[in-house]
Amino acid sequence: AEYDLVVLGGTIATASDTFQADIGVRDGRIVALAERLDGGAETIDATGRLVLPGGIEGHCHIEQESSSGIMSADDYYTGSVSAAFGGNSCFVPFAAQHKGMGVTETLDLYDSRAAPKSVIDYSYHLIISDPSEAVLAELPKAFARGVTSFKVFMTYDLMRLGDGQLLDILSVAKAHGALTMVHAENNDIIKWTSKRLLEGGYTAPRYHAISHPALAEEEAINRVISLAKFVDAPLFVVHVSTPEGAELVRRARQAGARIFAETCPQYLFLTREDLDRPGMEGAKFMCSPPVRDAATQDALWRHVEAGTFASVSSDHAPYRFDETGKLMGGPNAAFKQIANGMPGIAMRLPLLFSEGVVKGRISLNQFVALSSTNAAKTFGLSPKKGTIAIGADADIAIWDPNETRTVSLADQHDAMDYTPFEGMRVTGWPRTVLSRGRPVVLEGELKAAAGSGAFVARGTVDLSGLPGHRTPELDPARNFGARIAP
Ligand code: URP
Ligand code: ZN
Ligand code: ZN
Ligand code: ZN
Repeated sequence: AEYDLVVLGGTIATASDTFQADIGVRDGRIVALAERLDGGAETIDATGRLVLPGGIEGHCHIEQESSSGIMSADDYYTGSVSAAFGGNSCFVPFAAQHKGMGVTETLDLYDSRAAPKSVIDYSYHLIISDPSEAVLAELPKAFARGVTSFKVFMTYDLMRLGDGQLLDILSVAKAHGALTMVHAENNDIIKWTSKRLLEGGYTAPRYHAISHPALAEEEAINRVISLAKFVDAPLFVVHVSTPEGAELVRRARQAGARIFAETCPQYLFLTREDLDRPGMEGAKFMCSPPVRDAATQDALWRHVEAGTFASVSSDHAPYRFDETGKLMGGPNAAFKQIANGMPGIAMRLPLLFSEGVVKGRISLNQFVALSSTNAAKTFGLSPKKGTIAIGADADIAIWDPNETRTVSLADQHDAMDYTPFEGMRVTGWPRTVLSRGRPVVLEGELKAAAGSGAFVARGTVDLSGLPGHRTPELDPARNFGARIAP
């Protein structure tokens, strides 16, 4: 046969266009787009369905130890299966360098975790918590093996970097065409507030939100944008939870800086009232930065609509509610003894589709940009992934736009014992996901074997299609010669 697979009769949408076409797949890549294609060894009938680039999940914690050393509930098998059931054909979890670990050592460890288990293609963002001279000198080895993004933290005592260390990372990343991602919250505001709350006996989950005020995010985003602008390095601010933070990102980019950001479903769909649920139930809704209020949700939605955010990512950080996970300090744990993070890798896209596209807040093409195309560009996966085009990998999600569901734990296919979105109603559901032409999920059935996903060596970030240009106050070449970049 001419094609290994033909996807017939669907409505294709990319970040820019919507059209009817058949897709011919050979050797894992899209090789034909035409009104009518014959000659597929296999066919998938997509009549009445939407045929979209597979989701690319750019922010998730899979088989990763948290800063306090707890292993996430999902490994690369359950994490990738859950991602695929949620419409994703590729994900980029974190490889976390903890203090004392080398770069190659960290990446080798994550290769050993991912390669035998993942059912979708994957790469890693390298978390750097200890940028010693030796580690900085070793970073080019990460770029050489196709890991072209970092994540750094401005908070968490065991992870946080100071401003000088942030400048080190930003300038090395820039010199290699890599992207720095940052968790931006002011560490001292959080510590100062937490100490007073705990001294006053305010220990319930709801006080977690009070200890992470919006101003802690606003201050840190403002500071890290300044640092990135100073060395003219691109920056990606993760999990923005406040309109104040989003506004800083929007303004910086309008002024020409290459500053990108994401928000997450928890900030669009949950509020701090969820933290007030009885007993320790509120712990299920604890993440950092915290979920906020309804006015914040509305304001963040306006930023999603207006294009402030490159992506909506899950920040899937799965810690089970039973004693092995969230409640590190036992059944009466104070908020500081509760693991930060919640699951959601399977719900990111159904929630965004239902509340975004079906409710008319964003177009289908914006949905594709937010779920796949922009992540491919910012994280160096494009043009292989993130769109439906001749030559691209056949990473495809086929959606039934009319299927309605009530969110339940059983549909998550993760290793968790709860979903924070339980009981919500959604319209639109991903039925089939192909990764390089392989059916991973076919009409709701898992088809792929553990280890069938492959590591993707990523290229330098492609910021060409995104707004922003270079306007450095510090011009490294002119002011410092080559010496600025270690
Ligand atoms: O609460 C969260 N988000 N936990 C995961 C780690 C992080 O900060 O992204
Ligand atoms: Zn974070
Ligand atoms: Zn995270
Ligand atoms: Zn199922």
